[in-house]
Amino acid sequence: MKRSELISRILITVAIVSVVGAPLYFWSHTPLIHVHIAEDGGWSPDVIKANVNEPLNLKLTSDDVVHGFAVGQMDMQSVDVLPGKVADVTLNFDKPGIYTFFCTRWCGINHWRMRGTIEVSGSPADPSTSSGQRPEPASVPMYVTLGLDIDAPHDSPSIPFSQPSAINGQQLAVNLPIDRSTEYYLGNSPYQVFDELGSTSLTEIQRWNVVASIWQSNTTPESLANGQHLFAQNCAACHGENGAGNGVFADDLAAADESSMQTMAGSDNMTMQSPVDFTNPTRMLGASPALLQGKILRGGMGTGMPMWGSIFTEEQIWDLIAYLYSFQFDYHN
Ligand code: HEC
Repeated sequence: MKRSELISRILITVAIVSVVGAPLYFWSHTPLIHVHIAEDGGWSPDVIKANVNEPLNLKLTSDDVVHGFAVGQMDMQSVDVLPGKVADVTLNFDKPGIYTFFCTRWCGINHWRMRGTIEVSGSPADPSTSSGQRPEPASVPMYVTLGLDIDAPHDSPSIPFSQPSAINGQQLAVNLPIDRSTEYYLGNSPYQVFDELGSTSLTEIQRWNVVASIWQSNTTPESLANGQHLFAQNCAACHGENGAGNGVFADDLAAADESSMQTMAGSDNMTMQSPVDFTNPTRMLGASPALLQGKILRGGMGTGMPMWGSIFTEEQIWDLIAYLYSFQFDYHN
């Protein structure tokens, strides 16, 4: 064999090795993400880097119980991560930004702390081909523009004797001088609207019925159904399937409160509270949609109420809020 022939054979071999070997190398070197319950460290690693328009392949395995994986504000099916098995996920990002991934299976009392971030860098794709992925440029939430103190107590000074009926209110509302803008609804609590209706000749229950009809006119059956679905998946474990604040995790939160009181005597940075009872009219009729949005976006600051701002789209949060009010108002009779 001539020298030049040998060199070209070597080169071909090198080329074959790198064509076959490189993907194999990357396949075997896609780091395996280990998932544990939050108390044992959650996701590791919990910060992942990616580039715009380059598929991000993730391999996940659980070292304890069943977990789930999904990325917030992204239209994707969540993926179960089973103990001892490897789940394979490929993601594509067409916009740079910081995305939050989270656990979608209830895996323990600190399940909602199971979050991590994917930092996507690069320049955004041509907007005309973009698939409508978020994150969008952060808009200022309404509770901030309205200057609401979402931590201040917001009890309703008065509540109806029976559940207000939207259908009874509809007729009464027809000729009333009511501000029907979305902004008015979002920025006022049901009680504030009830109070303003005091200038009319309506009885108290009639005024509450009108309030129920205004709240109903600001939502749709589709939004309520979507809100109910999101609630069952993400909120019911604490707030209860029927909204009454008695979810399966409510007792655990109370127990965590007691033990945190004992172990951290004198410290007030962990004050676990019972989940809010959305069937309680005093609490709910005193809260405006903008206030509830603030609570959901930001979370309870160490009270056990998670922050959802990076998980849900704005629309999903309004759907949840519309659903929360449906524990107060009768929309059917
Ligand atoms: C891990 C338990 C837990 C989960 C899960 C949870 N919450 Fe909460 N939530 C709480 C606790 C505890 C509070 C009371 C503390 C507070 O107000 O800060 C609360 C308070 C709230 C409030 C404030 C109500 C008010 O009148 O001030 C809203 C609104 C709320 N939750 C909505 C939701 C929604 C919507 C979801 C699901 C997307 C959810 N929560 C999931 C524990 C939870």
